[in-house]
Amino acid sequence: MSSFPLRVFSGIKPSGDLHLGNYLGAIKRFVPLQKTHACIYCVVDLHAITVWQDPADLKRATYEVAAAYLAAGVDPKSHIIFNQSQVIEHSELAWIFNCVARMGWMQRMTQFKDKAGKNSQNVSLGLFAYPSLMAADILLYKSTHVPVGEDQKQHLELTRDIAQKFNNDFATSIKDNAYDADFFPLSEPVITGPATKVLSLRDGTKKMSKSEASSMATIYMLDDADAIAKKIKKAKSDPEPLPSETDGLKDRPEAANLVGIYASLADMSQQQVLDQFGGKGFGTFKPALAELAVESLSPIASEMRRYLAEPDIIEEILKDGANRAGDIAKNTMREVRNIVGFVG
Ligand code: TYM
Repeated sequence: MSSFPLRVFSGIKPSGDLHLGNYLGAIKRFVPLQKTHACIYCVVDLHAITVWQDPADLKRATYEVAAAYLAAGVDPKSHIIFNQSQVIEHSELAWIFNCVARMGWMQRMTQFKDKAGKNSQNVSLGLFAYPSLMAADILLYKSTHVPVGEDQKQHLELTRDIAQKFNNDFATSIKDNAYDADFFPLSEPVITGPATKVLSLRDGTKKMSKSEASSMATIYMLDDADAIAKKIKKAKSDPEPLPSETDGLKDRPEAANLVGIYASLADMSQQQVLDQFGGKGFGTFKPALAELAVESLSPIASEMRRYLAEPDIIEEILKDGANRAGDIAKNTMREVRNIVGFVG
């Protein structure tokens, strides 16, 4: 097994408004990885257009995701922030992966099934092929680690399947061109911590999502302090006091969700939260959570607003990031073209 330099890649779609699930499940976890890995954080606009995006909204959401990366503490100089469509090699590698991945693999993707629903003949071809673009994002940079929320696990398994099949299908050519036999790494998902699946605040059977109809179910990154506090105080819970052990959260999805959010915001484990609040009711816990959430999220929201007021600065950062990402991407694609047998 050849060893790849430690490299992180992750991405967020600029579609709809960023919410607490995106922050706790992804962005907050991007920040500490910068100490140990070379990190690339992408605004995946090519993914966003797999469902219709109004062009003006797409632009606004692209700035918003970039602003959130910056406000949360991603360093665009030591690491890379860029938007996907500026590095055309993503589309190119995705096409090659469309020819490596099998129809059956894509048909098994639960996210496609959920999104397409009964309407599967009428959704875009891009929505179906989405996971091979995601594999291209990750493998273009030979990324070793991919921090994501739980809902992306299946897409990461598919990314590994595509890498493995490419390495096998082209084994002879990889050898003839004197590249390492494991040309693409089998990238590791990094799905850790107490908030890898943040649930809707109104319905403990659904995840918090950009497409939720009720705004009371979702805390948005640009919500003000009053909105955050109100949503937490009105969040669905149950009449029991909090348990003193995590086992007691089983079958209590709403309670488990709120404890997970607290733990993640406070950088604690769920057990540490229960050590503090076990035996107390939601009348005590919710105001404490609301205070913590406002304290943690308000500074990020104001920093985001500061960036959003200066789109030129964001554009410069994205352009510079795209140039640096593009250098790595071009190098990989030169090798991939040799391997596949393209002339020129
Ligand atoms: P997207 O834009 O839907 O979500 C961005 C990130 O937020 C996480 N997330 C959540 N985490 C916890 N609880 C939730 N309720 C919640 N909702 C969303 C997601 O898991 C994700 O990490 N396909 C990806 C984007 C993508 C990507 C990539 C990710 C494209 N290429 C390459 C990693 C590597 C997506 O649609 O994420």
